Amino acid sequence: MTRDPRAQTSRKAGHVALLSSDENAAYWETRHQREGDLRSGGHVSYDEATNQMFYTRRLSMLLDFIGNQADAVAPIYLLDAGCGKGAFSRELASFGQQVDGIDGSANAIELCKERGGGPRYFRSTLSAWRSPWLYDVVASIDVLFHILDDDEWERTVKNLASLVRLGGRFIVSDWGEDGDRVYGNYQVVRGRQKYVPLLEERGLRFDGWHPFNFRGSPIGFYVFTRTR
Ligand SMILES: C[S@@+](CC[C@H](N)C(=O)[O-])C[C@H]1O[C@@H](n2cnc3c(N)ncnc32)[C@H](O)[C@@H]1O
Repeated sequence: MTRDPRAQTSRKAGHVALLSSDENAAYWETRHQREGDLRSGGHVSYDEATNQMFYTRRLSMLLDFIGNQADAVAPIYLLDAGCGKGAFSRELASFGQQVDGIDGSANAIELCKERGGGPRYFRSTLSAWRSPWLYDVVASIDVLFHILDDDEWERTVKNLASLVRLGGRFIVSDWGEDGDRVYGNYQVVRGRQKYVPLLEERGLRFDGWHPFNFRGSPIGFYVFTRTR
């Protein structure tokens, strides 16, 4: 997330031309080709070492929400929705979880498959992904604010929520304020007024927003649990 206030624009003011969906897809293909392991999916203005700390911080939060017990008999089935180059997928699989990683970028998925490490990887948009089973956990880390079109964002949230089993968790990062905000031409952050009603009416209980608390990031994890 950029924190440069000059890049922060009210959506209504319409000062920024957002990328089209084709431009957005091309942006991610290029970024995954150009950037190192963590900068490509992490914070582009941090170096790899700072990104390493950023990933570690978020991984430890995720493990608190998910539980980190490996159980060979009853593993946790987890969808990493928008897995990028697979940094979270591989770490979570190393705790014994059965991870499916999906991403729209061909370059990212190819690299994930070359690395291996346990997860299954598929190229798919988040709104189009179908699974023969429901997941214990669906996590989408720093992806939804890169879906610029509101209708596609809503289709995506509804689809991912539909893949969470009863008692399972839906964990998604975005900012914790009310209202939407545009950062640059490729980020639209959306707040709790969008997530909470949409998910509550689909049977997911809101269990809080948990800020990353990393270098002033305005982003955090929304945690929901399916109750019906
Ligand atoms: C900031 S990166 C985060 C990657 C990963 N979650 C991580 O934290 O390392 C955003 C990722 O979302 C993917 N992405 C963006 N929109 C998508 C969509 N509609 N469907 C699938 N993937 C998408 C991009 O290709 C990119 O890999």
